Amino acid sequence: MASNEFQIVVASSDQVKWIMKMVEDEGWNPGCKDPITFQLSDPLGIFVGLLNGEVIGCVAGVQYEDFGFGGLFIMMKKYRGKGYGMKLFLHALNRLRKCPKIGLDAVLEQVSNYQNAGFQTFHHTMRYIGIVSKLDFPCNHIVDAKSVSFDKLLQYDRCHSPGLRKCFLAAWINLGTDRSLVYLDDNQNIQGFGAIRKANDGYKIGPLYAESFQIAESLIHALAGTFDKCKLALDVPIPNKSAVKLAEKLQLKGEFETVRMCYTQPFTYDWNTVYGLTCLELG
Ligand SMILES: CC(C)(COP(=O)(O)OP(=O)(O)OC[C@H]1O[C@@H](n2cnc3c(N)ncnc32)[C@H](O)[C@@H]1OP(=O)(O)O)[C@@H](O)C(=O)NCCC(=O)NCCS
Repeated sequence: MASNEFQIVVASSDQVKWIMKMVEDEGWNPGCKDPITFQLSDPLGIFVGLLNGEVIGCVAGVQYEDFGFGGLFIMMKKYRGKGYGMKLFLHALNRLRKCPKIGLDAVLEQVSNYQNAGFQTFHHTMRYIGIVSKLDFPCNHIVDAKSVSFDKLLQYDRCHSPGLRKCFLAAWINLGTDRSLVYLDDNQNIQGFGAIRKANDGYKIGPLYAESFQIAESLIHALAGTFDKCKLALDVPIPNKSAVKLAEKLQLKGEFETVRMCYTQPFTYDWNTVYGLTCLELG
């Protein structure tokens, strides 16, 4: 092999584990079962960059039914600034070009780079973190998400997220999370949906969708109450004032700001009913 040969290949399971270690080292606190969920969502959508056969960086360009999402964009420190990251990024973006919509979640330092690449801000997002004590919050409207029609849940998820993502959602509720709950009204219509998963540090709640503040509050207590003294993280779209109010009521602290960005077409979901994004890595 010629020296300095740079190749981009679909990541194997072992390489996905390497990627999750990189995610952890960046301080992004991945969910413990994220690797399997990510691979099931689009097995051809996660890539590593190899320099002379050695893995040095990674990126994801995951195709869902009607949108694509980029993430997991990391280069080993000693190889940064040499043009390899841009090659990885363009590889992922080129794969997604045929998707009607494309998004990503950017750390603040990368926003201007993504703007140069054609992305525009959709909304800023704040990761709120804190301990939510177990509260007795009985609510007979809340049931296991796996007990309702998957098609109904899929349509509900579609209206509150970048788009339709059947395999992802199935993997998310069945494998990737520890508990997923929906809030049903008296007519059995879904009025809220949330899931919690163990992360490297504490737990992450995502998504958390709700048609009202009270529903969001009931769901977050029901999810957090699964674990005692639950340290949790919630990625809140900052323009949703009701969601910020809920985070503040729970005394969570805003610790990590990112920007959800879209390529050419903006997403259409109404962030006023989104109290927590599903996951910054893949949408
Ligand atoms: C972001 C990261 C992967 C870039 O990797 P890299 O190998 O250092 O990037 P490159 O060497 O290819 O960058 C070359 C040039 O392309 C630009 N560039 C890099 N990625 C780009 C992108 N996605 N879009 C537009 N421009 C980009 C760089 O700013 C740089 O421009 P400059 O020469 O004017 O400074 C790397 O800095 C990293 O791992 N950062 C920490 C993790 C992180 O923040 N990831 C992004 C999360 S949103």
